[in-house]
Amino acid sequence: MMTKKSEATLKFEGKEITLPVIIGTEGDKGLDISQMRKETGLVTIDPGFVNTASCFSQITYIDGEKGILRYRGIPINELVEKVAFVDVAYLLVHGTLPTEKERMDFSSLLNRNSLLHEDMRHFFDSFPQGAHPMHILSTMVNAMAAFYPSVDVSTTARDIERSCARVISIVRTIAAFAYKKSIGEPIVYPRHDLSYCANFLNMMFDSPVRPYHISPEAVRLLNVLFIVHADHEQNCSTTAVRAIGSAQVNLYATIAAGISALSGPLHGGANQAVIEQLRMIYNDGDIDKFIRKAKDKNDPFRLMGFGHRVYKAYDPRAEIVRNECEKYLTATGINDPLLDLARKIEDTVRKDSYFIDRHLYPNVDFYTGILYRAMGIPENMFTVMFALARLPGWVAHWREMISDSTKIVRPRQIYVGRTQQEVGNELDSRSPALLI
Ligand code: CMC
Repeated sequence: MMTKKSEATLKFEGKEITLPVIIGTEGDKGLDISQMRKETGLVTIDPGFVNTASCFSQITYIDGEKGILRYRGIPINELVEKVAFVDVAYLLVHGTLPTEKERMDFSSLLNRNSLLHEDMRHFFDSFPQGAHPMHILSTMVNAMAAFYPSVDVSTTARDIERSCARVISIVRTIAAFAYKKSIGEPIVYPRHDLSYCANFLNMMFDSPVRPYHISPEAVRLLNVLFIVHADHEQNCSTTAVRAIGSAQVNLYATIAAGISALSGPLHGGANQAVIEQLRMIYNDGDIDKFIRKAKDKNDPFRLMGFGHRVYKAYDPRAEIVRNECEKYLTATGINDPLLDLARKIEDTVRKDSYFIDRHLYPNVDFYTGILYRAMGIPENMFTVMFALARLPGWVAHWREMISDSTKIVRPRQIYVGRTQQEVGNELDSRSPALLI
């Protein structure tokens, strides 16, 4: 529970008002400014929401200074070691880890809802060759609203339950179908006898001429990768989900918005961008040149897979993925020169004052691409993998948002354009300027 512990005082134009300070269960302090404009006429300015808590949430806790990540209070390392992705999905959506019976019921709900409406299958034929699977995924999820009953704030709890399971389950089917389509192979339908991650691998890699052997090690690894990506509180795509959902849009359009936000290279798209960049550096051979470029303020080049808005310590997810990389590549005897290069880059920049002073560490995306490559996942599917994993997080936040009866997301702005003009006389030569 949050508590109101103290107050702050704001003095402005001879007026003095008190603002409540809200304290979260882990001690986060937030200034409640909801009445500030009414009392003073002031709004806050915070581009990029660097300093804004947009909601109260009970789902995920991050301490960026200490490198802590917990889902519903449970540390990420423990979840990775002890449970499967489906348990984590249940935990995020329902608040507790499932009992054996709840787990069976949830798995069976996912299985019953894993088939894509057969008419939607033909949509895949309309996408051009080479279309990025993230664009296909967001389009298909949006189209689900036309095929399945609408789900929004007015939907009954039971239907919400089924629809949330449907979207978590079907997105996996759509992703695998999109891949099969892109390589010109027949699609593989989901199977009821397989676990969530095994089912996905089978739909991706099974073929009529080359039956796929589901390796337990690949299944374990996919569970780990999906767990570390499953939620990350108010990141860009989750904020998109909450913002779009706050207009009482249906669940499918809301999740499609999250997928679109995730596709950007500064967000989930970074995992593909990292591999492309590592390959470029590898082909060039001069690591120092690229590190110099990353530090050059006049050069837009950034070291992909480094830095994070919240973590100012080592990203705990990156640590898990880096260790898994070492384990999996050793166990499978894969020698990937990009892993050696990635390690070399990390070692170099962690001694560099530019990166030290700015607290720039590898983030979750720095090593994931190397693992996906080793598992045979094509590069343009990397961000899709992130989206599949993030589905339970988006669903959990959407459910939390609708149950809080949150207001529609509608920020204010500070207008800095021209003042009133007259038609015919509107070309004011003065450029708009901030009044400071
Ligand atoms: N390479 C070089 N410099 C960097 C980098 C980087 N990857 N990231 C941040 N900086 C510098 C930045 O130039 C700035 O320097 P200065 O203070 O001198 O102006 C300082 O560090 C702070 O950066 P910022 O851009 O203000 O930080 P932000 O919180 O707005 O951005 C970020 C966070 C993740 C977008 C950014 O670090 C970045 O672009 N990283 C590369 C893309 C990437 O790996 N994204 C995946 C994020 S993790 C997965 C996810 O959840 O989406």
